[in-house]
Amino acid sequence: MERANLEARARALIEAEAEVFRARRPRCAAAHDEAASGFFDGVPQHWMLDWPTPFPMVVDQASGVELVDLDGNRVVDVCLGDTGAMFGHGPAPVLEALKNAGTRGLTTMLPSSDAQAVGRLLVERFGLPRWQLGATASDANRFAIRIARAVTGRAKLLVFDGCYHGAVDDTLVDLVDGKTISRRNLLGQVRDLGELTVSIPFNDEAALEKALAAHDIACVLAEPVMTNCGMIPPAPGFHDALRRLTRAAGTLLLIDETHTISTGLGGYTKVHGLDPDLIVMGKPIGGGVPVSVWGMSQAISDRLHVIRREQSGHGHSGIGTTLSGSALQLACLRACLEHVMTEEAYRIMQSRADRIEAGFKAAIAAAGLDWTVSRVGARLEVVFSPVPVRNAEEARAAASDTIEAALHLSMLNLGYLLTPFHNMVLVSPALSEKQADGLVEAFATVIGRLAERRAAA
Ligand SMILES: Cc1ncc(COP(=O)(O)O)c(C=O)c1O
Repeated sequence: MERANLEARARALIEAEAEVFRARRPRCAAAHDEAASGFFDGVPQHWMLDWPTPFPMVVDQASGVELVDLDGNRVVDVCLGDTGAMFGHGPAPVLEALKNAGTRGLTTMLPSSDAQAVGRLLVERFGLPRWQLGATASDANRFAIRIARAVTGRAKLLVFDGCYHGAVDDTLVDLVDGKTISRRNLLGQVRDLGELTVSIPFNDEAALEKALAAHDIACVLAEPVMTNCGMIPPAPGFHDALRRLTRAAGTLLLIDETHTISTGLGGYTKVHGLDPDLIVMGKPIGGGVPVSVWGMSQAISDRLHVIRREQSGHGHSGIGTTLSGSALQLACLRACLEHVMTEEAYRIMQSRADRIEAGFKAAIAAAGLDWTVSRVGARLEVVFSPVPVRNAEEARAAASDTIEAALHLSMLNLGYLLTPFHNMVLVSPALSEKQADGLVEAFATVIGRLAERRAAA
């Protein structure tokens, strides 16, 4: 079916489904209105308005993969706080750690007795030998970039077009007509971010080689699979080239695993044998509590010791925040690494994701649509393109906000919450086979309606 027809049907669906959403949620609507007396636009964080719903669902309870809103509507959550709750809402070992955390103080600016175990676990699980904690993945990326600049003595950074690495100024750029410019719509942006950041298309080895040639780039910051512009898998051999070319240019490689930790135990880096100099993870690593971790190679750690010795006195390093490395974070991180983020959890996630991938593909074929399903472990993305996209330009061409919104709203009214901004399904170990099958059935129903076909899932 042609894109224009599909979008016309999507617009009609959005209107009808928004009405259904509204009619089922008078309490959520009232609570949202009431919150406007205190919160800017009625929400504690403005992203909460970026769902395609007429107003946000106000959550009353969340457990495992189930959300219950103020009106008593129950939905199966495959957004999972856009990865923060990848292992399910309130995993029992993390809740237990929270319950016991108070006796050691929540935050003391001193290491707690969990520090040794957590340090050991991070090294074992993710491979790099030296670690530090932050509160968010944005923080960790900022700190890792600063380290890369400190140890290389270089100012510039390279990212891939379509990237998102958090609220990190240096990375908020776009590639437009071959030029790197500050991203549109940034608030209060006073510096031209293109001065120190170079953006190139993902999977473009020639562009990478050219950009690194002047030997002035401190580090390449990359997701191993791009997950914030649809989903863009690496072309065969791209990661080998990335490592070889960065090494040859004296540029460090910083891998952001915040989303691709869905790949399997140890993240994409461990599963696919990448060899980064720096690594960042956040979101689900503390089971939903704000924690991020960043690791570095022995060579970087050694160089940092030298730099620190050369500097006189203490003073601000630009790295670290007061609540980072707290007793609360260490307790939750330990609980998550030891008991939640386990081989068994990933086994369940992969097996459910296999089921969903097969079901979605069958439903797409039955509806006669030329879409693909991309996947990195427990993370699946429906891409409105007949073949996997290779870079952000292709991903943008394939995307349709209208079709996306229709899918989201219709799926939500059938009881399944997808991730806003894209068509992402994240599979938690708490998702049952029955729920996975229900998700596929709902997807088949919705795209059958969109394509005016009865899809048999
Ligand atoms: C790949 C990646 N890195 C970092 C971040 C930033 O995470 P946070 O918003 O928790 O700081 C995000 C957020 O979506 C992300 O997708």
